[in-house]
Amino acid sequence: MKLLVCGGAGFIGSNFARQRLQELGDQVTVLDKLTYAGREENLADLRDDPGFAFVRAGIEDADAVDAAVAAADAVVNFAAETHVDRSIAEPDAFITTHSVGTFVLLEAARRHGRRYVQVSTDEVYGSIEEGSFTEESPLAPSSPYSATKAGADLLVASYHHTYGLEALICRGSNNYGPFQYPEKLIPLMILNALHGDPLPVYGDGQQVRNWIFVEDFARGIGHVLAHGAPGETYNVGGPDEAVNLEVVRRIIALTGASEDLIEYVTDRPGHDRRYSLGSEKVRALGWEARVRFDEGLERTVAWYRENTRWWEPIRSGDYRAYYERQYGRSLG
Ligand code: NAD
Ligand code: TYD
Repeated sequence: MKLLVCGGAGFIGSNFARQRLQELGDQVTVLDKLTYAGREENLADLRDDPGFAFVRAGIEDADAVDAAVAAADAVVNFAAETHVDRSIAEPDAFITTHSVGTFVLLEAARRHGRRYVQVSTDEVYGSIEEGSFTEESPLAPSSPYSATKAGADLLVASYHHTYGLEALICRGSNNYGPFQYPEKLIPLMILNALHGDPLPVYGDGQQVRNWIFVEDFARGIGHVLAHGAPGETYNVGGPDEAVNLEVVRRIIALTGASEDLIEYVTDRPGHDRRYSLGSEKVRALGWEARVRFDEGLERTVAWYRENTRWWEPIRSGDYRAYYERQYGRSLG
């Protein structure tokens, strides 16, 4: 299959591209704008594969998108601004990429009659005290990130309803694993713990997230692409949930850092307390998560330990200025 993977130079998209190329023998073209989060280094091991191609462009670039969609059998869209804290500080790019970008992609998929999978998030449902969200739960996003992701989902659904586009939506829970940019909880805590920097826990640290290992989510998206019904939405949640403070403590144990590094900092405005996804619908299609949190976290810590060359340029570059703005202190 010839796949167009938009946003494939980021964390989940690069894991997906690797899986499709190396395990399933697909031809993969990655189209990516290479924002701060998108890095060609994430695809370094795929570059020499004859089935791989890279196009540097934004999904809002109608000409580049049209040519890339025309050459593919199907489109999977990962391209997004993905960090809630950045969406609170500077929402502009979230609106352009999620609204205009998704629209441009959908138009091209419609013109060329291509199957289309939109990668979305559990955050569109908002926070839930108990139980889990199903695909029928109402959308109640809290942040500019989740609100613009929800808007994109509604537009995707409308293209199926109105134009009959073979469009599907895949909503994942919190991912973790290799190649995740260290602005997100797990890689940030791992790198800070390895460097002896403070571990900034928002509020009381009792928020709960539903963790999925990135390879499991990538397989889930592939499963929806292959077996999902057009017009349908599928939740792809992880097998374990964990309280933030517990995640930080496990990272401390795995890195051998000191508990004294934990530092309670000002909470995120509008912080969602708990996310939880029910994934019965995608399980009925035959998908199952394989990696439990204990194993996945151990593998993730080991990957960051072994891949200093991947994160050193990030941690010594613009990220330092971001960190200072966000946390009001510099990295050691
Ligand atoms: P990421 O931030 O690591 O990567 C995003 C990628 O999109 C980058 O390569 C970036 O360069 C690219 N991009 C951004 N704007 C673009 C544009 N206008 N045109 C083309 N490319 C653009 O994100 P991620 O964690 O890999 O997330 C991928 C997708 O999965 C997103 O849609 C996100 O909402 C969704 N998701 C993420 C998680 C998670 O825990 N990380 C969970 C569920 C769903
Ligand atoms: P994050 O990785 O940003 O994902 P999301 O907000 O999309 O779920 O954050 C995961 C949880 O960790 C969330 O409850 C916020 C919290 N958090 C901290 O306590 N400290 C931090 O430095 C970061 C980045 C997140």
